[in-house]
Formats: sequence, C-alpha cells, structure tokens
Amino acid sequence: MEKQLRVGILGLGVVGSGAVKVLAAQQEKIKEQTGVTISIVKALVRPTEDKKQFAEDYGLELTTELTDIIEDSSIEIVIELIGKVDPARQFIAAALEKGKHVVTANKDLIAQHGVELVEIAKKNQVSLFYEASVAGGIPILRTLTANYLADEITNIRGIVNGTTNYMLTKMLEEGTSYDEALSEAQKLGFAESDPTNDVDGIDAAYKMIILTQFAYGMDVSLADMEIQGIRGLSIKDVLQAQKFGYEIKLIGESVKTEDTVHVSVAPALVSKSHPLASIKYEYNGVFINSTGIGQSMFYGPGAGSLPTATSVISDVTVIAENIHAGITGPQFNEYRKPLQLTPPEKDMATYYLAGSFESTVTVEEITELLAAVEVDVIDSAEETQENRKRIVVLTSNINRLQMEAAEAVFVKHGTLERRMKVMEA
Ligand code: HSE
Repeated sequence: MEKQLRVGILGLGVVGSGAVKVLAAQQEKIKEQTGVTISIVKALVRPTEDKKQFAEDYGLELTTELTDIIEDSSIEIVIELIGKVDPARQFIAAALEKGKHVVTANKDLIAQHGVELVEIAKKNQVSLFYEASVAGGIPILRTLTANYLADEITNIRGIVNGTTNYMLTKMLEEGTSYDEALSEAQKLGFAESDPTNDVDGIDAAYKMIILTQFAYGMDVSLADMEIQGIRGLSIKDVLQAQKFGYEIKLIGESVKTEDTVHVSVAPALVSKSHPLASIKYEYNGVFINSTGIGQSMFYGPGAGSLPTATSVISDVTVIAENIHAGITGPQFNEYRKPLQLTPPEKDMATYYLAGSFESTVTVEEITELLAAVEVDVIDSAEETQENRKRIVVLTSNINRLQMEAAEAVFVKHGTLERRMKVMEA
C-alpha cells in the first residue's frame, strides 16, 4: 500500500507558511521519487494569529496546543519553525521523546543545544535534521556530510547572514540608510524577529558553530569566538577599502591550523577578485578549502521564505525516503573530533588598521613604530580632516599577538578606529 506520511508544523510565519506552500507544490514529484505521500496536516499557531484562510486553502487543522500535535500518533514528523531557543527547545525535545522525527531551521537552538537534542533523538531512534539552519536555500550541511566525507577541510569562510549582506549592498550601491535598509530586510522576511542577532553578527556566529561541527567535528560556543557585526561600520572605511582593492563583507570564518581551529565573525576586507566579494543582497556564499576537492564555493539565497522552506522540505523528504527504506533514525552529523582553539601566536592574518592622530603625525612615523613591533606595512593611506589625520595601514601576515602590539601603537599615539582582517583571493 502507498505510504502516507503525516506532518505537524510548529509556526506558520515566513518560513512556516513557505514550507506548506513548497510541499503542496511538490507533493506529486516527491511521491514519485520517495514512494511516500507527505502531507502537513496540523499547524501550531499563536492564539492571536489569524491563519484561518491559509489553513483552509491548504487543508490544515490549526491548534494553539502543542499536545494536539505531539500526542497525535498519526503524525510522524514535526517541523519546528517558531525560532529562538525557548520554547522551541522544549517543543523539539517533547516531539523527539514522543518518537517523532524533527526538522528545524533554528540555528540559535542547534548551535547552543544541538548536542543534547541529538542525544534525545538517538535515544528515541528518530532523526533531527536542520539543513535550513545554515545559509537558507544553500544545501550546504548535507553536502558537507556526504560530499566531504572523503575530504579534509582546512578552512571555511563565508557570507552566512542574508540580512546584513542585503543591508551592506543597499547602503553601498543604492545609498540607502542603515535604518531603512534594515527595515526593508525585515519587510522582505530576511531578518530575525529581533534583528539584533543579524546586525551584531550573532546569527552568523551560530551558523559558523554548526559549520565548524560539520567541517571538523568540533564543538565551539559563542564564548570561543570573536564576534563583531556591521553596526557602526563607517563609510570612510568602506571607501578606503575599495581604494585598496577590497569590498567589506561580514565574513564568518572557521580556520584549521594543524590540530587547532579559530572561529570568528566580523566585517573583513575581501579582495575584489575573491568570489565572495561579488555576493550581493540576501545571497550567501560558503567558500571551502580542502585537501581533496581544493577550492569550492556554494552560492544561493541565504534568507527568505521559499528558499529556506525548500531546504526544510528537503529534510522532510530524506526522512520519508529513510522511513520507506526501513532505516531508523540516522543523525545528520556523527563526526566528532576534540580539537583545541588556535592559540594567538599561531592565528595568522593580515589586517586593516585605521586610526585618528594629531595632524603632525605622519604615516612614515607610524610605519616605523609598527616595524619596531615586527609588523610590516604593505599599503597605507593618510588624509587630513580638520585638525586630525586619519591613517590607514594594511599589515603583513602577522599573528594575533603582533596584531595586538600594532593596535597598541595606534592607541598610544592616537585613537584606533577600526581593525579588520583582510582576505586575499
Ligand atoms: N536572519 C537570517 C539571515 C535568516 O538574514 O541570514 C536566515 O538564517
């Protein structure tokens, strides 16, 4: 007999309603490929939400009680799309405990509590999948588990937040103000309900935590990372970076040096000839260096209803295939390898340092002071503004201790305004 798979969904917001639409549009194709007819039958919504028409259009039963979904023994999969940590964490744990497979796009939750939730999934022999939690519509996590199994990743760098990339593009190419660009990103459904996490780099940091687990099998937390967002990014730095031949992007990086890993999120200068420099608007790019494949880049929409929803439904179809094949509860990523964080003396990078000085200070003087702390200047610029001089330098490849020494030179002789890493092609 043909297999019917009933799904409950938690949340009918931007991605939740998209998931219902995507499944409705692709139901026949999925049935042909998997041999399973998948239907979303119940949706958990807030009492204040009016989703009656939507529910009628897509044949959904609405409920405001989680138990209506997790106590329903005919439902085999729960899709969680309410976001944030609580109560999503309790909801997912409860669904897994009830023996239901769970699909989520919740990076905050997976980055912080993924390990414990996977344990609950394993105990109950069900799957917990979260492809949509990183880079929206780009199928990056399953690619890492499948196509990089026979490879060794040495670093992953990427633009993994659609909202901030959208904002930077709007601000630089269309002259839109920061507030207006953010408001547009919210209207288009790219931003989190509280966009603080987007603009302050936290959303990207959660995604880098997940990518680090998939790339190296290593668990890191926010406390292990340097995290900076785009707030306060100055147009002066953007224009100066462009004169040097770079674009400024919010870059997440997870870099392996021997057996240690450094993970960070911050605005960085990206060489105009690097593929990541050309990624605009809500698009994301994940650029991987590995010993086997070499260089590869995965590109696509990092946010938005249908791209993210399509990733969610792809997880559902994998569960459907597994159920059909009689495979019980495989997990997304079984790779675990304890690695240490990279010590400062081994964490190498080139840097952009910008500072403000008395107008009598010269770039040659600063270059000499930096040479005295073993930091070479490979490019520089100076500009007098009223009674102050703005001096900007690009350093040679230095470790973090040298970078701190260079910062101290700026602080001692003037004011350090901005430090960013530089990414060459
Ligand atoms: N707010 C996120 C972003 C949504 O802008 O990338 C997708 O994770």
